[in-house]
Amino acid sequence: MSSKDENEKSSSDESRRNVLKIGLGIGAALVIGGVGSITRTLLNPGIPETVETTQSSTTTAATTGGATSATASTFVPPPATSDFPVIMVANLSGLQDGNPISFNYPLQEQPNILVKLGVQAAGGVGPNSDIVAFSQYCQHLGCVYGFVAAGQAPSCNSAYKATDPVGYCCCHGSVYDLTEAAKVIAGPAPRPVPQVILYFDQSTGNIWATGMNPPTIFGYDTGSSDVSQDLVGGTLV
Ligand code: FES
Repeated sequence: MSSKDENEKSSSDESRRNVLKIGLGIGAALVIGGVGSITRTLLNPGIPETVETTQSSTTTAATTGGATSATASTFVPPPATSDFPVIMVANLSGLQDGNPISFNYPLQEQPNILVKLGVQAAGGVGPNSDIVAFSQYCQHLGCVYGFVAAGQAPSCNSAYKATDPVGYCCCHGSVYDLTEAAKVIAGPAPRPVPQVILYFDQSTGNIWATGMNPPTIFGYDTGSSDVSQDLVGGTLV
């Protein structure tokens, strides 16, 4: 073999070794960093590795989010009554006897109270069946009434002492017994205020609103038993 031939063979061998080195390097990178990583590294050598970590975290977060979503999707909310919205209103841990909370339902502008009465009540939920909720529009002329605990007096009438937890309307003195599905026990109101249908989740203590009992909320086809009218003319919560 001539000297020229030997030089050409040596050069060819060196080229093959370089190709082999590059191939091994890429292969190792693919194994360690993954195809996406090496692709990004080759295309964008300036991207720091933390970007990849962040993206991995995002992926993890997305995966975690997926798991959370999966958990959420496995939770079966209580069934709605008719077309009423189903919303979580409170948790048992946040309630105190005789201390009502307000919430809007089923439309955004419709006030309600939810209260743990401390005594068993018709339609009550929770460990003691004493948690109830009602539309807060008085059935007389639509004033918003207030809650009065047993033994207490409303701010507008110090002469009145409630014997049971009641809803008291200061406009004309209608009184609703909240232990008996808001039965009218005084005043001009012609009918009880509608009771919210509640669902108590024992595993979490969450309390859900799932619908309304008749009659309809004041101002929504007042007095009718067709509670679908409660959902007309406004935006659901
Ligand atoms: S509006 Fe409530 S008693 Fe008249």
